[in-house]
Amino acid sequence: MNLKSIAIGLVACAAGTSYAATSSTSTVELRPSADAPVINKEIYGQFAEHLGRCIYGGLWVGEESGIPNTQGYRTDVLNALRELHVPVLRWPGGCFADEYHWMDGIGPRDKRPVMVNNNWGGTVEDNSFGTNEFFNFCELLGTEPYLSGNVGSGSVEEMAKWVEYITAESGPMAELRKKNGREKPWKLKYLGVGNESWGCGGNFTAEFYANVYRRYQTYCREFNGNKLYKIASGANAGDLHWTEVLMRDAMQHFHGLSLHYYSVGNWASKGSATKFDGNDYYTTLGICLEMDNLVKNHSAIMDRFDPEGRVGLMVDEWGTWWEVEPGTNPGHLFQQNTMRDAMVAALTLNIFHEHAARVRMANIAQIANVLQSMVLTRDAEMVLTPTYYLFKMYVPHQDARLVPMAVTTESRSVEGRQSVPELDATCSEKDGVYTISLTNTSLEKGNKVSVNLADLKLKVQGAQILTAASVNDYNDFGQPEKVTLKEFKGARVNKGVLTVDMPAMSIVSVTLK
Ligand code: AHR
Repeated sequence: MNLKSIAIGLVACAAGTSYAATSSTSTVELRPSADAPVINKEIYGQFAEHLGRCIYGGLWVGEESGIPNTQGYRTDVLNALRELHVPVLRWPGGCFADEYHWMDGIGPRDKRPVMVNNNWGGTVEDNSFGTNEFFNFCELLGTEPYLSGNVGSGSVEEMAKWVEYITAESGPMAELRKKNGREKPWKLKYLGVGNESWGCGGNFTAEFYANVYRRYQTYCREFNGNKLYKIASGANAGDLHWTEVLMRDAMQHFHGLSLHYYSVGNWASKGSATKFDGNDYYTTLGICLEMDNLVKNHSAIMDRFDPEGRVGLMVDEWGTWWEVEPGTNPGHLFQQNTMRDAMVAALTLNIFHEHAARVRMANIAQIANVLQSMVLTRDAEMVLTPTYYLFKMYVPHQDARLVPMAVTTESRSVEGRQSVPELDATCSEKDGVYTISLTNTSLEKGNKVSVNLADLKLKVQGAQILTAASVNDYNDFGQPEKVTLKEFKGARVNKGVLTVDMPAMSIVSVTLK
């Protein structure tokens, strides 16, 4: 269901435009419906790959480290992530997954073989973070594990035994797990069978992969009542043929089909994370809004094969991807994160909310020190990114029912890209508490937003704002935070209308009851 509509008045965005400091007005009309979908909390999923300093240094430092840790996991990162209520964590890749041999990552750490991480900078991987370390981390964080199995360079037997090692109560794999210190099986719900199988995961054609998928998943058994939710490797961005073939040839064997899309305009020249101008900013938002068409187009194919909506569309990689920070390993994908990244996160999550009937999971790339991260670390220091704060602000939307709406606002045209609405909005309800999140994308204009609350008798309980002095602002090591969540006082209800006086370039979330 997608009732959100945007009335468009076009505003040109030309190079070198100078912006007048005026204010816009926008209106939102809530249209609550008992038939609206629930926003699966898994839409707020994360992704951790053996890539750069995501795992090593980002999540895991080992018990012997001088960096404060809890059983080897960074305590600062663990505590920060707990605030996000991370519902699901995808691991060990990404491209790494299709070169990962899980048996190298179990048993005494000093006996584990080393390997070269050929995908990501040729770094030597010592396998000290493996299956036990991942599942223990998920338990500490209170998150659902999502394994990405090796199809590209692995074997059917290897994947089958991995599931058995994790979930069986008895038998040789269970004995091996017990020998490695874990008596009870873990629960494993989400199992990805390959990653980007059209690319780094084996360069398969859709037709060939569909058959390979069918074979691999056959031997991933359900032990002791463990229920697997099997996810087939899905399309790269607009590759509709991939979705068509997978749905046609293998749908009866999977519960979810993935989709990967990064907000990148030009892969040969991705641009700086921090040094960009207003035009670059609006172009990025236009690129990120393409997600809406992608979800609609892939969903339309899924609807044809699966009108009941049994199969989930799992956007298990998304986010911004900039040139790496100067002086860092190009293969480690370490990038800073500004107010622009928070805007991309807000608009993208709003799209997932709109399509919650089909989009059951999404995993931003990645959780720490890689691409659009939640946290950045440097030795013992940790920085919370603007994207982290956006995810924190949006926690109330997890598992809440979408409240459909109509939005009337101006839009800015962006050459060759989606036009960018000045106001973007989403609303959800859980246990009688409504959360309305509003995004004013304009760099120069405030926005006076009127939200018609229908017949709902609601009062403002509180509001938060995420904004910055400059869209290029980011949080850096050893510096006071420039982009952080603050209490917001500019929201009030009068005669069934919520008015929110938004500053330029801001995201406001209002809680009402
Ligand atoms: O997230 C970084 C990489 O992007 C992943 O390893 C891969 O799946 C995708 O191409």
